[in-house]
Amino acid sequence: DSVKVFAPGSVSNVGCGFDILGFAIDGVGDEMIITKNDQNKIIIQTVKDYEDLPTDPKKNVAGVAIQALLDDLESDQGFDVEIIKNIKPGSGIGSSAASAAGAVVAVNELLGKPYTRMQLVDFAMKGEEVASGDVHADNVAPATLGGFCLIRGYNPLDVIHIQPPADLWCVVIHPQIEIKTKEAREILSPQIPLKKAIRQWGNVAGLMAGLYTADYDLIGRSLEDHIVEPQRKVLIPEFDELKLSVMEAGALGCSISGSGPSVFALAKGKESADVIAAAMDTVYKRTDLDYKIYVSKVS
Ligand code: HSE
Repeated sequence: DSVKVFAPGSVSNVGCGFDILGFAIDGVGDEMIITKNDQNKIIIQTVKDYEDLPTDPKKNVAGVAIQALLDDLESDQGFDVEIIKNIKPGSGIGSSAASAAGAVVAVNELLGKPYTRMQLVDFAMKGEEVASGDVHADNVAPATLGGFCLIRGYNPLDVIHIQPPADLWCVVIHPQIEIKTKEAREILSPQIPLKKAIRQWGNVAGLMAGLYTADYDLIGRSLEDHIVEPQRKVLIPEFDELKLSVMEAGALGCSISGSGPSVFALAKGKESADVIAAAMDTVYKRTDLDYKIYVSKVS
């Protein structure tokens, strides 16, 4: 009565799509081992390497997500939850979302799959809310469903799977500093000048059209975020230089991954992605920050 799952990291916002776009990243994520217990409670074991993450199930994203599922099912089944975190919290690549998504996928499996994956996104979102102070599914949807997701609406939740073109690659640099999503959301102005909004929704539509027609140039010129990136980039060391270098290295586009500090770039083909990864490495080698770079296909 035990299940082991891999919960992928994810890039959310994807430039212009604040809170509505996200895709899963191959090979980067958390592992979770979840086992039924007969104590009618959720027991979160110390999270390996991150002892300061809460183990109180009411404060832990995995605990809250599981509880939301159990409440809906009117079940008092207990679970032991072991989380092996490979993504540092506050990374911008969906660390909390991975734990929330992995938890509900595993629990659903152990209970005989009463819910569809799509329904699980709702429960995972409740867990994510604990970490970010706000409801958003642009990391939990791809972490739960895989692939590239559009959250067309939140009330009711309406998630659409987007099929990206065959040769779309992503490079992510993760500086090993922590940015709390809650704080990175609090700095955002609640108002958007109409002119900026027009440019932004032009880009969102352009990005969708580019993804569906495999028009890489259109994807590139649509990626730009006129609203959130300018307000958040100050939180990320060397952001402007990094972006300039990756664009010179041939990236289709580049922006902050989620709420940062990770930064992602899109590329056509693996070769181009490797050149971009090297450009990122050159910029960050000059800093005294630790960082990791991931190259992954967008699928
Ligand atoms: N869309 C969210 C934000 C993602 O940018 O605040 C957080 O990971």
